[in-house]
Amino acid sequence: MIILKDSEENIKKAAEVIKKGGLVAFPTETVYGLGADATNPEAVAKIFEAKERPYFDPLIVHIANKADILKVAQSPDRRTEFLIERFWPGPLTVILKKRENIPDIVTSGLETVAVRMPSHETALSLIRESSTVVAAPSANKFSSLSPTTARHVFEQLGNAVDFILDGGQCLVGIESTIVKIEEDSIKLLRPGGIPKEAIEDCLSLEVVEMQQHLKVEAPGQLDYHYSPQKPVVLVDKIPVDDNNAGFLFFTKPSFNIPLDRSFILSADGDLREAAANLFLALHFLDSLDIKRIYAQRLPEKGLGLAIMDRLKKASMKFKNFS
Ligand code: TXA
Ligand code: MG
Repeated sequence: MIILKDSEENIKKAAEVIKKGGLVAFPTETVYGLGADATNPEAVAKIFEAKERPYFDPLIVHIANKADILKVAQSPDRRTEFLIERFWPGPLTVILKKRENIPDIVTSGLETVAVRMPSHETALSLIRESSTVVAAPSANKFSSLSPTTARHVFEQLGNAVDFILDGGQCLVGIESTIVKIEEDSIKLLRPGGIPKEAIEDCLSLEVVEMQQHLKVEAPGQLDYHYSPQKPVVLVDKIPVDDNNAGFLFFTKPSFNIPLDRSFILSADGDLREAAANLFLALHFLDSLDIKRIYAQRLPEKGLGLAIMDRLKKASMKFKNFS
């Protein structure tokens, strides 16, 4: 395993690894991805092995030009085209009918494929230099916390990955929004970096949240995704007198808090800043010598919907097993 700054030269080296069927972890604007040549089924199989991810959980294929969508999928419908025009490159993933050259292992045998054009320059250069399209889930062990720094990747995957490109901290910090457009509805399969409201504004249509149906639509969206090792408890008011707990505050509280066991997502309640810090905060709190993490609920509007989705899933793990 090599870990190097994302210089032009190192991106070229990483692209060689992808071309040869290896695994490269790379920064995107959302979270770090674990990439392999999406047209090479053996290379893609290594992603599942490294992450210990079940094969029924399909991957997102990343492209570096809007036009390359046709290398992966059938022509998008008009509404999907609108969304792509407005939000690509950026944290939006669309579900389309797949082309035959995309192997079944990428889509878990589904007829559809998830496609996204990231906005991070390193991600774009890596894909271009690889001369292919790149399948990439988040670069963490299955169901664990997503990585927003190269160090997070190293800690979870270590030698299971051939090359880590270090591009610093991810700016959006939360995964892409996944939408599926059907004849009569627009489905939000996963809330993420593009707010649901922005998609509704763009199309002048209502977007339907698919929480209940996620297992059918996006098999990977198990209830206990994005989990730290420590139990996460969602609360309205943080019980700061619990000496065995760490605390995740949305905004700066007006009372004294144990600073060494607390993380404030955004002092003045900015949801963009809160999203960018979310996984960093959970990685930090999870590393402390504490028994549980209390996380403060925040409004489920704009990016708050995606942040709360991740926090709810993080808290589910122990609800299910305790
Ligand atoms: O921001 C992101 O999207 C990051 C970066 C690396 O691009 N990637 C990411 O990938 O979050 P991953 O594998 O952690 O999440 C992809 C989700 C999975 O929950 C999967 O079930 C869903 O996308 N998905 C993939 N293909 C699908 C399909 N054909 N239909 C429905 N859902 C799909
Ligand atoms: Mg993931």
